[in-house]
Amino acid sequence: MGLAAQDRSMKILVTGGAGYIGSHTCLELLQAGHDVVVVDNLSNSHEESLRRVQALAGRKLEFHRLDLLDAPALRQVFAAHRLEAVLHFAGLKAVGESVTKPLAYYHNNLTGSIRLCELMHEFGVRHLVFSSSATVYGLAEKMPLTENMPLSATNPYGRTKLMIEEILRDLHVADPRWNIAILRYFNPVGAHPSGRIGEAPGGVPNNLFPYLAQVAVSQRPELAVFGNDYPTRDGTGVRDYLHVWDLAQAHVRAIEQFDEAFLRAGVADPYLVMNLGTGSGVTVRELVDAFQRVYGQPIPTVDAPPRPGDVVGACAGAERALRLLGWRAERPISTAIADALAWQQRCAEVLR
Ligand code: NAD
Ligand code: WQD
Repeated sequence: MGLAAQDRSMKILVTGGAGYIGSHTCLELLQAGHDVVVVDNLSNSHEESLRRVQALAGRKLEFHRLDLLDAPALRQVFAAHRLEAVLHFAGLKAVGESVTKPLAYYHNNLTGSIRLCELMHEFGVRHLVFSSSATVYGLAEKMPLTENMPLSATNPYGRTKLMIEEILRDLHVADPRWNIAILRYFNPVGAHPSGRIGEAPGGVPNNLFPYLAQVAVSQRPELAVFGNDYPTRDGTGVRDYLHVWDLAQAHVRAIEQFDEAFLRAGVADPYLVMNLGTGSGVTVRELVDAFQRVYGQPIPTVDAPPRPGDVVGACAGAERALRLLGWRAERPISTAIADALAWQQRCAEVLR
C-alpha cells in the first residue's frame, strides 16, 4: 500500500540532505512535522547547514556522515529506524566535471543509488523520490519540455540521471509495490529568505545564478555571457529558474501525497515522472537586468563564446505537477534574486 494522505508525521530518510536542495527540503519536512534522518558524506556541503536547518525549524533531525557506497554504514541507519520513505538527493552534479571524471560520476551516482535501493528492498522501504534533472531532455528544442518527450543526454552527468531513471523503472516493473516519483528539476535558484542556508558552491560557481550574485556584490569583477546570437528574444540562453523553496515544498507534497498523485494520474502503477519548473523562460540578459533592478547597481558583463554543450533553451511544461501534486512554483524571480543576494552577503562565506 502507498502512503495515504498525510495528517501524521512520517520518518523520512534524506540522502544528500546537507546539500543545497536537500537542506531546504529538510527544513520544510521538519516544519511539516515529519521526522528526518539525513545521510550525507559532506563531499559538497557542510554540517553547519544542518545545524542552521534545525535552528530555523526549532526541531532536531538525525545526521549520519556517511557515503552511500558504504553499505554497512548505510545498513546501520536502516536498521536503527523504521523508515517510511526516501528522498534521494545525494549525487555529484557538475556537468563539466562529469566530462573529465566520468568514472567518478558513474560510480558515485549509479552505484550509490543501487546500494540505496538494495537496502530499501532489504528493509521493505518502497517509497522513493528521486532527484532527476531537465538535463535528461538533452538537446530537445521544442518548448515547453513535457515528461513524455524523448530523452537523451549530452554528458556523463546527464547520463547518470537517465540511467537511474531507467533503473528505477525496471525496479518498479519487477515489483510494483515500489512507489516511485521521479522529479525533473529545471534550474533551482535562490536561498531561504532567512539568509542562513543556500547554495555554497566551493570555488568558482558553474551556474549563472550564484555567479551573478557574486558579481552583484563585487566578489567577482564581471559576468561572461556565454553566447549572444542564439535564436532567442535577445540572443542569450533561456532557462526556467525556480526558487529552491518552491522546489523544497514540492518534495513535501510528493512524499505526503504519493497515493493521491497516483490516483489523480489514473495510473495503476505508482511510478510517476514530473517536471518541476515555473513554465516560464528567462534569458541571461533578462536575468542580468533583473539583478540590476533588485540590487540597484549595474552589473558588468562581457560577451563570450557559447559554452560547449549548452542547450539554447529549457523551459518546463509544469502542468502535471499541478494536476498530480497541486503544486506550482509560486515565488517570482525577483524574490529568488533578493534571497540569493541576502545569502551571498550574509552567510555564504562561513560555509565555504
Ligand atoms: P548538492 O551538491 O548541494 O547536494 C548533493 C549532496 O549529496 C551534497 O551534500 C553531497 O555532499 C552529497 N553526496 C554526494 N555524493 C554522495 C554520496 N556518495 N554519499 C553521500 N552523500 C553524497 O547538490 P544539489 O544542487 O542540492 O542537488 C541535489 C540533487 O538534485 C542532485 O542529485 C542533483 O543532481 C539534482 N539536481 C540539481 C540541480 C541544480 O541545479 N542544483 C538541477 C537538477 C537536479
Ligand atoms: C544557465 C545559462 C549559460 C554561467 C546546469 C546543469 C544542469 C543543471 C542546472 C543539475 C546558460 C549561461 C552561465 C555564466 C552564462 N544542474 N551562463 N555565464 O546550463 O541550464 O544547467 O545547471 O542537474 O545539469 O547543466 O545552468 O546556470 O550553468 O547556465 O552566460 O558564467 O546561463 O550559457 O545559458 P544550465 P547554468
